[in-house]
Amino acid sequence: MVNLPPKNDTSIFYRDLIKQLILSVSSPLHAILPDNMKNNIIELQQALKKYTGLTSTLYYAMKVNRSVTLLQTAIKEGLGIDVSSENELKLALSRGADSSNCSLSGPCKSDEFIELGILAGSIIAVDSYDELLLTTNIAESTNKTARVMLRWNGGVSCSRYGMPFSDLKRISKNIKNESYIKLVGFSFHLPGYSPLDRAGCLASILELSSQLQKQGIDVEKVNIGGGIPISYISKESWNQYHANISKAKFYKNQAPKDYYPYWNSSSKERFINQVLVNHDNIERLSSLGIELILEPGRALVDNAGFSVFEVLGLKKTELGDNCIIVRGLSFSACEVWCNSEFLVDPILIPRTTNNKKRPMYAYIAGQSCLEDDLITKRLVAFERSPVRGDLLVFNNTAGYQMDLMESRFHHLPIPKKVALNCYRTDISWTVEEAM
Ligand SMILES: Cc1ncc(COP(=O)(O)O)c(C=O)c1O
Repeated sequence: MVNLPPKNDTSIFYRDLIKQLILSVSSPLHAILPDNMKNNIIELQQALKKYTGLTSTLYYAMKVNRSVTLLQTAIKEGLGIDVSSENELKLALSRGADSSNCSLSGPCKSDEFIELGILAGSIIAVDSYDELLLTTNIAESTNKTARVMLRWNGGVSCSRYGMPFSDLKRISKNIKNESYIKLVGFSFHLPGYSPLDRAGCLASILELSSQLQKQGIDVEKVNIGGGIPISYISKESWNQYHANISKAKFYKNQAPKDYYPYWNSSSKERFINQVLVNHDNIERLSSLGIELILEPGRALVDNAGFSVFEVLGLKKTELGDNCIIVRGLSFSACEVWCNSEFLVDPILIPRTTNNKKRPMYAYIAGQSCLEDDLITKRLVAFERSPVRGDLLVFNNTAGYQMDLMESRFHHLPIPKKVALNCYRTDISWTVEEAM
């Protein structure tokens, strides 16, 4: 069996506080670490500045986490915001986001979403020709000009996001004639994490932009989406896990076939470097005078949160497997519903110091009545047997792990979020209002 310890145990600084928080707030509970988000912002901004000078902007894909603290951190640091629903846009605007640097994405947007985007002067990433017509109609009815980007499907022909390149070319060449529409540029987002694929797509968009500029059609900005991968575990753990997967034990022997790249060789800066140096993208951006927009979610919240579950007990199945039952539901932190696994071992915080070392393996479940609804299908190695009242801490959960599939199944409450702020050696905490 392979241990998969977190690459960074950010929870270690808060060990004493965690028990207090569980008692005062709730279990499970999500801790938010805005200072770590600030560090990611600085790292990404510095990398962008290094390669593009000042002609690039970072947006925060706020779908990655519903935390208001993280949103406010992004706004305070001057980031634009990528929003995927009218409620996300309303929240971003109500917290003081620069509306001209909000970007609306998603297919078949509601009328309200488009109208608010137009009135706020935000950028609408238009997903299809039909959506362009709808946007034109809404803009006309409000007597405002809509700022639009045309979204490409990135060559992923099965995707429901964006349009084929042929549509992009046709629409952009005729867009000058559209009243109430101002073409700002192009956008795309790819499902994978390859910097070279993104570099290739950027090159195609820059080629089209160059042709348009020759015809007098201005292209100001290109938004290349997010998709900067982060490493949750070490290279050794990742390799060992894959080398030993046939021996690893899973609930019902259900080893996942597909994983997020929980370890990858690319740092955030190297990813940006590879997107920009390939295909002469830096030179082309600069000669065309185009601003680059990058809108990561996960990379901006790398290490910006952890999740804590209280152990309710241990059950042994008739087959002899151990299952740890925790307070809460797997919907709060798991990849089981994507037929995958969150490949980071939880850290056990014993309630008392007197439980003896008794190494064991166990998979982990919440209070769900559904047999297959688990937090891990993998049998995780523990140095000592968890007992009622112990805590399990999962590190680095701020990226899509906290609320993507949260639910009030069984009338269990939605886990609370607590923002942890450090000033020198002092730590203060605030419970976030539920949005
Ligand atoms: C349009 C768009 N931009 C940005 C992102 C953020 O991606 P990531 O969290 O991988 O950086 C997404 C994720 O789905 C997206 O759809």
